[in-house]
Amino acid sequence: MFDATFQRYLTMIEQFLAQLAWDKDILSQSMYYSLIGGGKRIRPVLALASAEAVGGNPEAILSAAVALEFIHTYSLIHDDLPAMDNDDYRRGRLSNHKVFGEAYAILAGDALLTYAFELLADPGLGQPERQLRLIREVAVAAGKVGMVGGQVADVAGEGKTLTLPDIEEIHKAKTGALLTISARLGGILAGGTAEQEQALTDYAQALGLAFQIKDDILDVVGDSETLGKLAGSDLRQGKSTYVSLLGLEGAGQELHVQILKAQSALKPFDEGAIFLSELANYIEQRQH
Ligand code: IPE
Ligand code: IPE
Ligand code: MG
Ligand code: MG
Ligand code: MG
Repeated sequence: MFDATFQRYLTMIEQFLAQLAWDKDILSQSMYYSLIGGGKRIRPVLALASAEAVGGNPEAILSAAVALEFIHTYSLIHDDLPAMDNDDYRRGRLSNHKVFGEAYAILAGDALLTYAFELLADPGLGQPERQLRLIREVAVAAGKVGMVGGQVADVAGEGKTLTLPDIEEIHKAKTGALLTISARLGGILAGGTAEQEQALTDYAQALGLAFQIKDDILDVVGDSETLGKLAGSDLRQGKSTYVSLLGLEGAGQELHVQILKAQSALKPFDEGAIFLSELANYIEQRQH
């Protein structure tokens, strides 16, 4: 059941990406290169599943859900640049800047970010008031107090031993903010109630922290080929992580705490959120 639903969402997402017009110019090719292939699509999947959890039709919010993957992909392209994590592999192949050069990697990231807002402003999404609220929330989550702010704190913390509250704050911003708005997006655009929006928020905040703790763990114990990116990046860049502070076992325990917290936030949905609950298990157990 979980696998079939995940696959149904993935098919929708991949078909949407494929039907967009991808030209032969260098910018389009650079954007397309990073978007296609290898990504788990967790953010749009979360959006589609949240829309379904509030009783909506995931097809109706697909363009907005895919916009989240554009923002995420841009963040990965920039994250891998020599000025940031300096990683040569991503999603099972060379990082964008290794193929297209740094200038086109930066510009492809810029264009993916702006394209995302074009998709979010799709007139076909309906409910203009909800859509406007959502667009503003995505901008906040992706920006200075969200993902970008988290990336700034992550870079500033390189070579320093941070405290656990520092790292928690970084993880919530650099990774949690976009995952949280992904779940909220489905609830907001599919007509969820305020209570449902809150439950999705509580769920995804814990899930977002869990997601980055697992990323930290995989960076230590993961197999580079399975990961599609080179393991050991955090150590190479002198990052403080959940593993560097708590050890593998301690990080695993904190991961489990956050997974349970995410799942308990889903109570108001009863049967409607089985997929979201199982998605939390998938994130705890994932190997890439
Ligand atoms: C990697 O994200 C960067 C983090 C925020 C931890 P994902 O693990 O979702 O990467 P893809 O999209 O599957 O490649
Ligand atoms: C990245 O965190 C978070 C982003 C906003 C891109 P990481 O730097 O740990 O992600 P990976 O391990 O390179 O995928
Ligand atoms: Mg990074
Ligand atoms: Mg990185
Ligand atoms: Mg990482």
